[in-house]
Amino acid sequence: MCGIVGIVGREPVAGRLVEALKRLEYRGYDSAGVATLEAGRLVRRRAEGKLRNLEERLAREPLQGMIGVGHTRWATHGRPTENNAHPHASERLAVVHNGIIENFRELREELSARGHVFATETDTEVVAHLVTDEMDGGKSPREAVAAALPRLRGAFALGFVFDGQENLLIAARQGAPLAVGYGDGETFLGSDALALAPFTDTITYLEDGDWAVLTREGVEFFDARNAPVTRARLRTQASAFLIDKGNHRHFMAKEIHEQPEVVGRTLAHYLDMSQGCVRLPFDLPFDASKLTRLTIVACGTAYYAGLVAKYWFERYARIPVEIDVASEFRYREPPLDATGLTIVVSQSGETADTLASLRYAKEKGQKTVAVVNVPTSTIARECDAPALTLAGPEIGVASTKAFTCQLSVLACLAIAIGRARGALSLERESALVSQLIAVPGLLAEAIKREPKIEQVSATLAKASDVLYLGRGASFPLAMEGALKLKEISYIHAEGYAAGELKHGPIALIDESMPVIVIAPHDGVYEKTVSNMQEVAARGGRIILIADNRAADEAAIDFHAVVAMPAMEPDFAPIVYAAPAQLLAYHTAVIMGNDVDQPRHLAKSVTVE
Ligand code: M6R
Repeated sequence: MCGIVGIVGREPVAGRLVEALKRLEYRGYDSAGVATLEAGRLVRRRAEGKLRNLEERLAREPLQGMIGVGHTRWATHGRPTENNAHPHASERLAVVHNGIIENFRELREELSARGHVFATETDTEVVAHLVTDEMDGGKSPREAVAAALPRLRGAFALGFVFDGQENLLIAARQGAPLAVGYGDGETFLGSDALALAPFTDTITYLEDGDWAVLTREGVEFFDARNAPVTRARLRTQASAFLIDKGNHRHFMAKEIHEQPEVVGRTLAHYLDMSQGCVRLPFDLPFDASKLTRLTIVACGTAYYAGLVAKYWFERYARIPVEIDVASEFRYREPPLDATGLTIVVSQSGETADTLASLRYAKEKGQKTVAVVNVPTSTIARECDAPALTLAGPEIGVASTKAFTCQLSVLACLAIAIGRARGALSLERESALVSQLIAVPGLLAEAIKREPKIEQVSATLAKASDVLYLGRGASFPLAMEGALKLKEISYIHAEGYAAGELKHGPIALIDESMPVIVIAPHDGVYEKTVSNMQEVAARGGRIILIADNRAADEAAIDFHAVVAMPAMEPDFAPIVYAAPAQLLAYHTAVIMGNDVDQPRHLAKSVTVE
């Protein structure tokens, strides 16, 4: 999962390649590089680490070429060193790659036997040598790429520039997203519309199997059988989004604080507030009264959103729900029949495993709904009905506002399907909708607890392990809280169902391990209190996230209480997500970590 860009320009491109790469850094940031043609000859600049290292390198050793490709890397094959950084090159071409070439070992052996010498540990280098090999045999760059592509297995997006070719960039897409953009006497290539936003608002997405030839005069498209094809030009909104941190120190902080607004905007899209009901902005592509089963598939935070929603779908729509992480779902051949519905959840809409699961469900004849944040993404385009979250671009690697917007949309879907199935009365729907309408205000209240949360974070920053507990829909939220903490503070954290504690994890309790308990005053609160008693009896330090009434009723000597606003419990996970996010954020800040770009991670996971 890397970001790739390319420009066939009328003025030097290196600066603009870096500018576009900055907008793609969410896809990976362990090394970066560019290649341009200087007086017709290929020249590369690469650097280990964040993009700023490449910028410094280019400041010391500038490039003037008018055509070039760039790359920001998330390492799959080979360590994140400068030598393994893209573009990879031969004497004939330079190539940037997002994805994995699964058969790179056999290709490497074959090409080595023919005298090719490999200089890196990457899978990508075989692509450079494979196309070079075809050119050595007398083929033109176009013919060589066309001959090489069918030999590659795996998922990839590729961009090539060629030595001596000042007006030729070739791109190819198989399973990883790729777009071309149109300028005034210039053409562009990028992993997504966001990368191209500073240059153009007119783009075309390549379809799977497509390859394209970019020159200053325009773009030609070919399908997997090398037949010329036409692909639609689209106007994108991507440039409308200002990608800056506002008054915040980090994107993550900005995105946490944006939640009352974006959750409000998302809910307004799905609710008819005057009538007190859910009004979906699309027709359900199935007859809800005949649905026999619901399957939810997603990864990471989006999976936890799905887990919370399972409680809602079962309660409000009275429908059996199966949920799985996409990397397991796609390979375990789950039986699905045409009477079921699959919902996939994804911020980026490009997560490889989630996309494969969506395709699997479609193959089995199921209708599919995607809860997705990027409207132009592959998942949004391939599902039967995209249920959009209106979170706006999420830049921080740790997902925050996308999560609460996913929950908001899933809550509305559960209510709409419940009503369509006759499982929910109009009165109950109206009561639930009133609760949802209150959510943005409650989120704003919850975020005001930040000073207290910052104080509590000082305790967490000293811990090496943290336990998160919750019951009911707070259980998946506990897992999400633990994931947030892990990914940006690097502290080991586990989310557990509070009732499971005594079946093993209670053995871990001692004074050094903070236990965070998410406990809205709901139907299982008293049970959670019993579990907290068990922790307290063993000397555990409990940090309670609950309203004052719940905290008072528990009568436990808590290490700290993050006092939440009083609310009806149904949609508490949306509101209680904020303190869990802020706890992770402040802990990571105290520890001096790179909050927006934590180690080893990337925002968009387009490899499996
Ligand atoms: O783009 P997606 O929602 O499909 O991404 C899924 C996960 O990769 C993502 O939620 C990941 O777990 C986040 N870094 C968590 O904060």
